[in-house]
Amino acid sequence: MQELLGGWKRSAYCAELNGKDAGREVTLMGWTNAHRDLGALIFVQLRDRTGLMQVVFDSAALSPEDFALASSIRSEFVLAVRGQLCARAAGMVNPNMATGEVEVKVTEFKILSRSETPPIEVDDNCNANEALRLKYRYLDLRRPVMQKNFRMRHQIAHCARRYFAEQGFWEIETPMLTKSTPEGARDYLVPSRVHAGKYYALPQSPQLFKQLLMVAGYDRYIQLARCFRDEDLRADRQPDFTQIDLEMSFVEVDDVLAVNEGFLKEVFAETLHYEVQLPLPRLTWQEAMDRYGSDKPDTRFGLELCDISAAVQGSAFSVFADALAAGGSVRCVNAKGFSGAFSRKEIDALGEVARTYRAKGLAWMNFKEEGLQSPVAKFLSEDEIEAIQKTANAETGDILFIVADQNDTVWAALGALRCKLAEKLGLIPENTYNLLWVTDFPLLEWNEDANRFVAKHHPFTSPMDEDLPYLESDPGRARAKAYDIVLNGMELGGGSIRIHSRELQETMFRVLGFSDEDAQTRFGFLLDAFRYGTPPHGGLAYGLDRLAMIICGGTSIRDVIAFPKVQNASCPLTGGPDNVDEKQLKDLHIAITD
Ligand code: AMO
Ligand code: AMP
Repeated sequence: MQELLGGWKRSAYCAELNGKDAGREVTLMGWTNAHRDLGALIFVQLRDRTGLMQVVFDSAALSPEDFALASSIRSEFVLAVRGQLCARAAGMVNPNMATGEVEVKVTEFKILSRSETPPIEVDDNCNANEALRLKYRYLDLRRPVMQKNFRMRHQIAHCARRYFAEQGFWEIETPMLTKSTPEGARDYLVPSRVHAGKYYALPQSPQLFKQLLMVAGYDRYIQLARCFRDEDLRADRQPDFTQIDLEMSFVEVDDVLAVNEGFLKEVFAETLHYEVQLPLPRLTWQEAMDRYGSDKPDTRFGLELCDISAAVQGSAFSVFADALAAGGSVRCVNAKGFSGAFSRKEIDALGEVARTYRAKGLAWMNFKEEGLQSPVAKFLSEDEIEAIQKTANAETGDILFIVADQNDTVWAALGALRCKLAEKLGLIPENTYNLLWVTDFPLLEWNEDANRFVAKHHPFTSPMDEDLPYLESDPGRARAKAYDIVLNGMELGGGSIRIHSRELQETMFRVLGFSDEDAQTRFGFLLDAFRYGTPPHGGLAYGLDRLAMIICGGTSIRDVIAFPKVQNASCPLTGGPDNVDEKQLKDLHIAITD
């Protein structure tokens, strides 16, 4: 009967106790973090989700049978212990342990469960590879750092629920088995048993349902929504992930941003005791691209881009001249004062970074004490060099990195380069959380493969009022009432004011290349809803995983997802995705052909 609780109740969590509680009788329950057998005394570090407590089994205080049982305790055995909490003798205090002043002298105990030798060490310094850690995720999750992460994630989620409830938002669930709601990724499909050959799609986001809730008059909606997207995994992307998703009626851009700034201030104060200064900075998309080469700029450091097109206008250097002639630009980043920081090899490596963003090369100009060093100087006139220097504010001791190409390529390459430079030069301050809004995104972008415009955000985003005239005549020129919230160079969330007129939504679908028939088949339910009185509305969704990752100081959202998937979208723990029985396939009217 050893393994049964038998009516025992825990009186406290391990790390809730300290010197002030000395003398109390306690009942603790947890795992064996470590054990040390000194012959007549056995020390066990008991671990629960709060932390550790030393418990002592003394042969003088226990029956020989019980003491023998205690000597069988091994790592990860689950114990219930009863005894007195005692102050440790002066020399025995462990300053490295939160509960290091005290220990429990065991009078009674139970081994509730035994453990085989665990395949990975339950320790923050565990160096097992990630695949193994994820296979034994339940052991990995026992590590204190993981428990801290999930406690933090819980706090964030709780803060979101409380804050938005206080602001009048109602939590409403939307379906998982639904019809495709495009957000730009591939859908996960679920075959229907009842409707042969038909499929549900798992939601990429609750976008259309939250808009329907606005049509329904619910005014303010929030959901911690699970979303599913079949896209390539990255450190900040999982196939299933969670959004803090919200929508509001009778609002314009500023209203949505204001209520969200309140949330961000609160969540950082509550979790990190970090004060976010409001209002948050705002950059238009154009400004973000021109200054940082990115629509999710990391503003924790400078290294801003500088357009030197005018300085090299009419240059004989074909690389620059060709880029300008083709409607592109020549821009640079000035690593001010870092003239001596780069070896030739390192500069070449930076060139490779630029190339991964499709730049054809990376030119540089190093203004050394002994004179200008640059592989492109020989192609440039003195006037041009002087003009570049002036435009880029380049002085002795500076080094310029230059890319000439179409704007998109120049931005992407230099945007990535400035982040690499900041990392290498140690310019990124720790414990800084730079939140900002990027606004006024282009409504559409040209997609080469599809040979048509696609929505930059999604097809339900409203154009800016003053750009409505271009929607059909010059679609690429229209800007959107869309905004992203950016944190330390990462897209934390995004949203927009939506189209709420049926006619405008139909026009939008046309611009996106849908026939009226297509639009009706795919989005008819939304267009129909718009017939019956639709309030102006807008909203936003945060990536909860991303927010939790940053707040926990992690480098991958896998650190804050209990059971994440690996690179190839499989789950090492369960082995999913997996084969299923013939019978199941048959029920679903599915035949595998290859
Ligand atoms: P969007 O597609 O920008 O907008 O998604 C909102 C936020 O969700 C997070 N996110 C992800 N996180 C982890 N893994 C992924 N695969 C992943 N994809 C997205 C990001 C992103 O900023 N319905 C709209 C929101 C709206 O318009 O209100 C939407 O889903 O942090
Ligand atoms: P090339 O004329 O191709 O030998 O290039 C001369 C120099 O210009 C080399 O240092 C290249 O790295 C650089 N370069 C080439 N293409 C570009 C470009 N598109 N933008 C910036 N520098 C470039």
